[in-house]
Amino acid sequence: MIQENIIEETLTRLFKEMEFEAEPSGLYDPLRYMIALGGKRIRPRLCLTVYALFHNRFEPGVLSAAEALEVFHSFTLIHDDIMDKADIRRGQPTVYRKWDANTAILSGDVMSIDSYRRLAQVPAAVLPQVLELFSRTAAQVCEGQQYDMEFESRNAVLMEEYQQMIGLKTAVLIACSARMGALLARVPEKDSQAFYRFGYNLGMAFQIADDWLDTYGDTVVFGKSVGGDILNGKKTWLLTQAMAQSGETGRERLRQALAMPAETAEEKSAKIAAVKAIYQELNVSEAAQNEIKKYHEMALAELETLSLSTVQKKMLQRYAASLTGRKK
Ligand code: IPE
Ligand code: IPE
Ligand code: MG
Ligand code: MG
Ligand code: MG
Repeated sequence: MIQENIIEETLTRLFKEMEFEAEPSGLYDPLRYMIALGGKRIRPRLCLTVYALFHNRFEPGVLSAAEALEVFHSFTLIHDDIMDKADIRRGQPTVYRKWDANTAILSGDVMSIDSYRRLAQVPAAVLPQVLELFSRTAAQVCEGQQYDMEFESRNAVLMEEYQQMIGLKTAVLIACSARMGALLARVPEKDSQAFYRFGYNLGMAFQIADDWLDTYGDTVVFGKSVGGDILNGKKTWLLTQAMAQSGETGRERLRQALAMPAETAEEKSAKIAAVKAIYQELNVSEAAQNEIKKYHEMALAELETLSLSTVQKKMLQRYAASLTGRKK
């Protein structure tokens, strides 16, 4: 096994030393900027953690897969921030705000290509499977993002529709990260599927926690503006649950709060406060915490299907706890 402190040192070194082309700097500077800002690096950490359970050292090809996951994820954030009109990411101006939307589009494109170049460095024996998994996942993330945007202009969505949407936009990449670590470690197929489901359930918990933080988090710690989901009319877990719990009168009140103008700073605060007041009456915040716990437990249950030692299981449990207990 490789210990967590080695995984952390490896992650730090990997992203500190990560290089992109020098010119044109207008294209590549945003890539350097996003990677230097850091982020939590949960996806490469998961890939390396799963691999670490079964091996004593990281082969270079394994590290390339971890890099690819983080580069791909960071690319999705650059485009996501244009789509969500977000000003702050990882505590700093988003790429399209610091530069402009055209830069964010093209730098994002080249970043997505860069992730494939890194992925191609995995050991040849697993490349076909790894490539297929990554490509399918990448397409699913786009599908999820499309639903996320389409849902903005809908009055309400069903909880099943919400779950499908976040499954695609967020959970599959975390699931893919876990399965990638398992594929690279050459564990039996059945086990690698269990790792996928472990990651998937954690990813569901992670996105619901993200929705919660977007309303109840601390901007400084979270690194993103709080209240943005409400202003965008995002069908978050909180809103979907509030709609599901309310009768027609309650739903109409929510619709009215969401229809409030939000041009000025005062209007924005008033709108966020109005929606939060309804959430408060419905105890939606507590319900979200319970839902996060539910998915966390479903993830842990997947580990029981694997024949892992106590030490191996504990390492995955600590990883899971770090995701669902997130404050940022
Ligand atoms: C943000 O992902 C997008 C979601 C899926 C919620 P992270 O919360 O992993 O963002 P960084 O990489 O740590 O900035
Ligand atoms: C993001 O969902 C999912 C992807 C980027 C694919 P969000 O839009 O909730 O992520 P944040 O909150 O901006 O990080
Ligand atoms: Mg989004
Ligand atoms: Mg966003
Ligand atoms: Mg969010």
